[in-house]
Formats: sequence, C-alpha cells, structure tokens
Amino acid sequence: MKVAFFNTKSYDRQCFGQANEKHQHEIVFFESHLSNETVSLASGFPVVCIFINDYLNAEMLEILAQGDTKLIALRSAGFNHVDLNAAAKLGISIVRVPAYSPYAVAEHAVALILSLNRKVHRAYNRVREGNFSIEGLLGFDLYGATVGVVGTGRIGAIFAQIMHGFGCKLLGHDTYQNSTCLGLGMEYVSMPEILAQSDIISLHCPLTPESHHLIDAEAIAQMKTGLMLINTSRGGLINTQDAIDGLKSGAIAYLGIDVYEQEADLFFEDLSNEVIQDDVFQRLLTFPNVIVTGHQAFFTAQALANIADTTLTNITEFAQSGTCKNEVKAETAIASK
Ligand code: NAI
Repeated sequence: MKVAFFNTKSYDRQCFGQANEKHQHEIVFFESHLSNETVSLASGFPVVCIFINDYLNAEMLEILAQGDTKLIALRSAGFNHVDLNAAAKLGISIVRVPAYSPYAVAEHAVALILSLNRKVHRAYNRVREGNFSIEGLLGFDLYGATVGVVGTGRIGAIFAQIMHGFGCKLLGHDTYQNSTCLGLGMEYVSMPEILAQSDIISLHCPLTPESHHLIDAEAIAQMKTGLMLINTSRGGLINTQDAIDGLKSGAIAYLGIDVYEQEADLFFEDLSNEVIQDDVFQRLLTFPNVIVTGHQAFFTAQALANIADTTLTNITEFAQSGTCKNEVKAETAIASK
C-alpha cells in the first residue's frame, strides 16, 4: 500500500526500510510532524503512519478522509493522541503496536533509579572536571527498600521482576492482580498505602481521565519522606507544578522522568540552539535530584525492530482483509479508561 510516514528520523527510515523488504509497501518518508499545516501532504495516501507526538484531531481526520486515507498506523502502543470517535465516524481505521519491548521501558526505569540513587549524573560531571570529592553523593542500598509499582501490566511486571532481583520488597496498585507479581511476593495495596509505604514509586499505568494527575499535591502530601518518584509512562500522570513544589519542600527526594506533560513541544528535536520557552520544564532541570530523559525508554534496537515489523504487518493485514487484530476501536478506548 502507499504509506505516508510522518515525523521520521534517520533511525526510523533505516529500520522501516529494512523491515519493508518483506512487505514491499510503497513508503514515502516525511521528516515533518503531522499537523494542520502538513496534513495536506497525505492526500492520496490510503495509509498514514504517525508517532506519539503527532496529534490527530477531528479537523485533520476530515482532511485525511477527503484525501482517501483509510488507515492510520500508529507506531506506538498509546493512542491518546488520536480522536478515535472522529476517526470511527469518518470510517478511518486505527491500528497500533500493542507491545514491542516491555524490557526496554522497565530497564530504563531501573536506569533512572540507579542514576538518581548513586548520583551518577553528578559524579560523571565532577570526575571530568578533576573533582574527585564524594561529598553529596551518598546513596542508599536498594536491597531491602520498598518499591511501589503503580500499574502491574506488561512493563510493571518486568520492572517488578528486576527490583525483586535487587532484594526489594514489592507493593503494587492496580485494578487487576498480576499472577507474576503475586509470585514475586508483591502485596497489592490502595493508592494512599502505596504512597505512604514506598521508598520508590514507579508509574506504569496508562494515561486516562482517571489517572490524569494521579500524582498531585494531595498525593505528594501522603508520600513517605524521602520518596523517589519515577515516571516512564505518560507525562500527564504527574502534575508537574505540584511535583516542583514537592521537590522544593523536600517531600519528593528524587524525581526521574522520561515523559513530561508538555513534551510534544520539546522532545525528539535538537533545541540546543534555541531558548526554551517552557519555564516549568526549565525549573525542573535546575534540581540536582531530578533526571529528565526525552522519551527514550522505548529506544532499544530490539524495540525498534519490533515496532517496524508489527506496524508493517498491521498494514499488510489491513490491505489483505480490511481488518487487523491490532485495531483500536473507539469503544476499546472507552473500556480501557
Ligand atoms: P499494560 O496495559 O500491559 O499495563 C497497564 C496496567 O495499568 C494494567 O494492568 C492496568 O490495569 C493498569 N492501570 C490502568 N489504570 C490504572 C490506574 N489508574 N492505577 C493503577 N493501575 C492502572 O501496559 P504496558 O505495556 O505495561 O504499558 C504501560 C504504559 O507504559 C503505557 O500506558 C504507556 O503509557 C507507557 N509506555 C511508555 C514508553 C516510553 O518510551 N516511555 C513506551 C511504551 C509504553
């Protein structure tokens, strides 16, 4: 099929080019995001492929439908950036990559924990400047620490397995109890309990209306003193201004995030020659006990290969049968909220 790929980087072009050898779709790669300004580029393409920071609203979907687009292939698991109801009304199908490497994301959460705890980011800079003082670099043993996992699905369960290997005590919070996690001795508790008892909390639940700002001033007030908060899930789970207040008061002792509420204006671009206008984000970067990475948790060779393979297989399946097992329906989205 003729596919318009938006928001592509060199690694996408390489990975998808390689994976397409077996599918032979007619791919055109665009570097630009899909936006109100660029949506007309997709005219005449039955398939449009986008990434997590390409927002698709009703107006853009209407333009795509007029240009004969029938399928939106998301190269992501999340679909909160697409107006599913508008797509359904226009007869446009949406497919996604439900899982590509839960290990990649879980391992990145652990990288943030280890870096924050042992202050690797600060030690790296000090040693490069000939400063070998270890003042201020005191960490704590992970062995015996209580780790709270909010959302014990695919990624949360693997994260729990890794932390179990460190000898941590595991607490979980989820509507469903995961048998792998129960097998590791995880105790499921309420949100106030996980906040009060955990030394480290890692967020692995999706962003829904219910989980939006799950961590706000009220939640921060219930946290155990000295808590480390990790978010590799979605930025909107944390109220950033409240987290900044929590860092200033000491209620949050460490913050490691790979996702940020307003990341669409920042992440995946080289802005090193520009003045960043987001003052909330800039304030976050001033704390010595905060590490921010730019939505790279998924970024491993295995995950990229899986994303490319599943996306192109989704398109092939749709071309052959008009349906796809990885289709996201408007009612699925409502059910998962
Ligand atoms: P999953 O669907 O396997 O697991 C999510 C779990 O969260 C489910 O068990 C669900 O019951 C639970 N949940 C839903 N709402 C909840 C709430 N309010 N409180 C507690 N638990 C709740 O999803 P998976 O594959 O583990 O992914 C988790 C999240 O990771 C995704 O939603 C996505 O936002 C994020 N992600 C981030 C990436 C990155 O590069 N930073 C890459 C891939 C996913």
